[in-house]
Amino acid sequence: MKNNFYDQNIHYQFPETFWWGSAASGPQTEGAALIDGRKQSIWDYWYSVEPERFHNRVGPEHTSDFYHRFKEDIKLMKETGHNSFRTSIQWSRLIPDGFGEVNEKAVAFYNSVIDEMLANDIEPFVNLYHFDMPMCMQEKGGWESREVVDGFVNYAETCFRLFGGRVKYWFTFNEPIVPVEAGYLYNLHYPNVTDFKRAATVTHHTIVAHARAVEAFKKLNLAGKIGIILNLTPSYPRSQESGDVAAAHISNLFFNRSFLDPVTKGEYPSDLVELLKERNLLPAVEAGDMEVIRNNPVDLLGVNYYQPRRVKARKEPEPENAPFMPEHLFDPYIMPGRKINPHRGWEICEEVIYDIMVDLRDHYGNIPFFISENGMGVEGEEKFRNEEVVIEDDYRIEFVKEHLKWVHKGIQEGANCLGYHIWTFMDNWSWTNSYKNRYGLVEVDLKNGLKRTIKKSGRWYKQLAVNNGF
Ligand code: BG6
Repeated sequence: MKNNFYDQNIHYQFPETFWWGSAASGPQTEGAALIDGRKQSIWDYWYSVEPERFHNRVGPEHTSDFYHRFKEDIKLMKETGHNSFRTSIQWSRLIPDGFGEVNEKAVAFYNSVIDEMLANDIEPFVNLYHFDMPMCMQEKGGWESREVVDGFVNYAETCFRLFGGRVKYWFTFNEPIVPVEAGYLYNLHYPNVTDFKRAATVTHHTIVAHARAVEAFKKLNLAGKIGIILNLTPSYPRSQESGDVAAAHISNLFFNRSFLDPVTKGEYPSDLVELLKERNLLPAVEAGDMEVIRNNPVDLLGVNYYQPRRVKARKEPEPENAPFMPEHLFDPYIMPGRKINPHRGWEICEEVIYDIMVDLRDHYGNIPFFISENGMGVEGEEKFRNEEVVIEDDYRIEFVKEHLKWVHKGIQEGANCLGYHIWTFMDNWSWTNSYKNRYGLVEVDLKNGLKRTIKKSGRWYKQLAVNNGF
């Protein structure tokens, strides 16, 4: 295919050391679910008991098989302009019983992946937890249990010791609010609980686990940096009515600042604490919790951005065990006149990425961060294949460009943004949506032995990285 992208007139030039790459996760790409010592995560378990909850009943073992094909995939990363790539280590592969013995085959695998990336000049960004609780730890209570918090810290420290000499960028959690919302409020992920008090406990324990992992990292005196990856969903009122404005404020407290404030400033927002106290929903805070949170702010943040929240006040009374439920704060509502990704049902609002950048600059000490996920999920992409069997996903190129324009503006105005990672490198299995929406720069043909083909966006992305702009 002819390459028409090389652009001599760069209008949006990014800083020289900018990270261009993509993000993925172990559970969504590796496959090899139950071989070489790995044991079940909650996803394997849940699929075994409720396969109908997964799109087309396609479960977590149906990945792109990164476990066996990572060398080929890392070559493709190179071909699509990556200078960095994020994946995650699977707790259930590295320490199959949650605590205790380390699985040597997993160590060998992750060592090979890291070495292969470094040999290709691709900086490995490693995340520890991407929604994938080992089932044996869920049986102990999951994030509701302090024993599981201890287990996570042990797992984190094991990772730092094993790979910390070569991995310079570490992240404790990907989107830690998602297991809270999806698992404990909305009945979307295992363990399918709907209980605000339990959700609050899960939140606090996750933050304690995060802070203790950061502390363990710092104690090891490694050369790298450590952060967390948050999906920030700025909340805007649907109208200027006072009820809607107040609801948007609450939504920001719950869905953004509940994690953002403690991991950067070492404390929960006081309004959030007040709100929970009024309703008797505060989680149990043990001696030492707030101290470890206060003493271990992150070095950098990953920001995943897909969409804002448009919030309205609740008209009906709140259910008792689940106040602040989605009707109140979040429903799939698209503001009239706004763009929408029709496949995913999400609003596309590019300038919100700039709002986030300004907020981090002005209210979070201009903390270093990078856009760690942003991307467009599309159903039925095969129909965009051209005669060379390359998917012509111009919509994805447009999507990235339009967001990057705002990222560029944020950088020009002083925000400390270090890079951009698209979600995702190659089409991958995604939780209950399985393969419904494809996000990759590279197509994975499920009907043809998982054949990889770089999409038009992947070729464009290479030029973006080569030009360091567009
Ligand atoms: C992000 C997650 O929120 O969204 C990924 O970090 C996920 O794990 C991605 O795959 C896309 O989600 P979905 O549901 O549209 O496939």
